[in-house]
Amino acid sequence: MKDQNIYILGIESSCDDTAASVINNGVVLSNVVATQKIHEAYGGVVPELASRAHQQNIVPVVHEALRQANIDKKAVSAIAFTQGPGLMGSLLVGASFSKSFAMGMGIPLLAVNHMQAHILAHFIKDEEQKAPGFPFIALTISGGHTQLVKVKNYFDMEIIGETLDDAVGEAFDKSAKILGLPYPGGPMMDKLAQQGDPSRFPFPKPKVGPLEFSFSGLKTAVLYFVEKETKANPNFVEENLNDICAGIQSTIVEYLMDKLKNAVKITGINEVAIGGGVSANSGIRTALREAEQSLGWKTYIPKFEYCTDNAAMIAMVGELKYRTQQFAETDVISMARMKF
Ligand code: KG4
Ligand code: ZN
Repeated sequence: MKDQNIYILGIESSCDDTAASVINNGVVLSNVVATQKIHEAYGGVVPELASRAHQQNIVPVVHEALRQANIDKKAVSAIAFTQGPGLMGSLLVGASFSKSFAMGMGIPLLAVNHMQAHILAHFIKDEEQKAPGFPFIALTISGGHTQLVKVKNYFDMEIIGETLDDAVGEAFDKSAKILGLPYPGGPMMDKLAQQGDPSRFPFPKPKVGPLEFSFSGLKTAVLYFVEKETKANPNFVEENLNDICAGIQSTIVEYLMDKLKNAVKITGINEVAIGGGVSANSGIRTALREAEQSLGWKTYIPKFEYCTDNAAMIAMVGELKYRTQQFAETDVISMARMKF
């Protein structure tokens, strides 16, 4: 089974992106993502609308993934889908589709943990990224999670620290919302921060355990700061937007780097990999590259399209599971919360 030529169809539907991908022996042949625009009007993901949109999107997205990969559905060796964690209504659409496809085509089913997939995205074979060596430290930073994970092997992972409240992506999005930026605010804040001065408006870094995170205080600090300053000058935010964004972003990046330094010190492992949507952030990317020089770490940052939610990472984990025969039964259940 190890050297077999295999094609895995991956399906991702845990939140507000409907995605399908085909990979062949670790190489991505297609990676299609339909982002649901409908949530922008609400300033956040509306679960009921997300599951409805997944239902509309899933068949066309899979067709497109097979078309771009230039293979017939009969060539698919197995189908992998996101079992959890995520929004239950969204997860169920991907799970039901995948179970039906597996049954209809008479092929195996593979159930994938979304957070594990963000980490194992590093093993996608691509000229623009290299795979970390075991053991390594993974920092998964997304809209739903902030976790420090000790990765001993593909399926031997241990969470050594996580957030006590909001995820880091939420910290970006909620702060951006206070500043009047459209949802999701992370990418826009990153863009504006790059033109700003990070030292003008510093924000406090919450004190918790060495490997723990807390972000709920940051958005409150941003809210109070903006309220206070706009009382004195109603145009304060628009006049200082770049510098405020730079202040928030640099606080978050320094905080993430502090935690990574603690993790390296405590575990003695200096191979450091990041994953999840927030790894697209320019500040964290620069800080990690600098740590290669100044701290002697080996750092790994996935290609942009494998950072945010995508199905290629689901297919990648599917392939690793297929090769080690970790198949799922048709009665496997979706899980809103899920441990490794
Ligand atoms: O992994 P992901 O696509 O979905 C989840 O599983 O949550 O992550 C989405 C999160 C959002 O909070 C978004 O604002 C944030 O990633 N994000 C960024 C950037 N690009 C995406 N945050 C900061 N800077 C960015 N460049
Ligand atoms: Zn994600």
